[in-house]
Amino acid sequence: MHKRGSFGSRFGAIAAAAGSAIGLGNIWRYPYVVGENGGAAFILLYLLIVFLIGLPCLMSEFALGRFTRKNVFGAFRKLAPKKKWYLIGVLGIVTSFVILAFYSVVAGWTVAFLKDSLINEFSGLSAAAIGSNFDGFVASGWEPLLWTFLFCLITALIVMLGIENGIERYNKIMMPMLLAILLVLCINSFSLDGFKEGIAFLFRPDFSKITVDVALSALGQAFFSLSLGMGTMMTYGSYIRRQDNLLFTSSTVAIADLSIAILAGIAIFPAVFSFGIEPGSGPDLVFKTLPNIFGQMTGGYLLGILFFLLLVVAALTSSVSILEVLVAYCSEELNLSRKKSVIICATLAFGASVVCALSQMPDSSLKIAGQNIFDFLDTFSSSYLMPVGGFFIVIFTGWFFGKQRLHAELSSDGVYKVRYFNLFLFIVRYLAPIAIAFIFFSKIGIL
Ligand code: PFF
Repeated sequence: MHKRGSFGSRFGAIAAAAGSAIGLGNIWRYPYVVGENGGAAFILLYLLIVFLIGLPCLMSEFALGRFTRKNVFGAFRKLAPKKKWYLIGVLGIVTSFVILAFYSVVAGWTVAFLKDSLINEFSGLSAAAIGSNFDGFVASGWEPLLWTFLFCLITALIVMLGIENGIERYNKIMMPMLLAILLVLCINSFSLDGFKEGIAFLFRPDFSKITVDVALSALGQAFFSLSLGMGTMMTYGSYIRRQDNLLFTSSTVAIADLSIAILAGIAIFPAVFSFGIEPGSGPDLVFKTLPNIFGQMTGGYLLGILFFLLLVVAALTSSVSILEVLVAYCSEELNLSRKKSVIICATLAFGASVVCALSQMPDSSLKIAGQNIFDFLDTFSSSYLMPVGGFFIVIFTGWFFGKQRLHAELSSDGVYKVRYFNLFLFIVRYLAPIAIAFIFFSKIGIL
């Protein structure tokens, strides 16, 4: 039996959990999902989902994790011995593996773009040239893998150092850095011609844009962005000290995650509108449009470097948390050392990244349901695997964990007052599962 690590401070726990939540989901994914789904109306729906479903789900994961002090699989085994609930743990491990695979590929692009901005690769290139450069880079299949490998290596090294010395220490450095960079980029947005238009797009809602598809995207984005439904927050919860207030920790994380997404919107959309680019241009948004914008902007050289550094840092603090789900499982359930677990898990995940990256070559036959494997895993994990995991986690918390135990966990054994406990219970028992099921079944066409 190995000694379990834990976060050494309240700030450390918050930085790590916020570091997991804040990632490419906020800066790469959120702007293009907002763009594709019509802007402000989507954001309002998203807000509602974050507070009504996301936050209670996050609290549940923290509570189950801290109570059991185990990895996601072991936690359900302990909570419900001889029952099938451990399957949620299995689902969490599969989802982590899948997400780490495609996430590392995008993260690899961010490292490559950081290098390109450093050597001033984008200056003087036309929009078309930048676009085709990116397409060529992705389509080459192999070149991005080099960067993905480098990224996986850094992720693995941090996780290898352990909870307090690795994960907590680096999050405490990287999260303030991320906020500072983002603020510089936001302040710069004020000076752009498209500032008004960009802000209107973000904050002026058009409710006719809300459809079931939009709701499912908002739900998926909320799960993805808060790292929910796959045991990441359970695993991190298992390292939170007993004296820390879970309600405070989880609401700080949810608010930080939301604020960073909105700030990323403010940093990105004014620039998008200033240069006449289509806001709904999809996953390529930040990789095609922003280098183009930085290439034309005064101070673009420095801003470009800052922006891609922001992406690398954001990606790293998230990938570390996904790898930790797998490593905690291997070291606790299979009794391997942390070092061995990291090497095995990171190597397997990198292998899966290779498949994802190669599936993006134009003539690749690596397809599922007509999509290349990369795109398929991106949507399938956030729109299906994570909400399904989240559904069962809230059901378990609401109906099977036990009301007293839940209260004891949320109040740290009576130290903190749990306001609105009954409301919370109502949400995890009824509202959250029904809302998830409703959106889900409408999408599949059953409702
Ligand atoms: N929340 C991260 C982001 O927004 O980029 C992505 C993520 C991290 C998803 C950890 C899932 C996870 F377990």
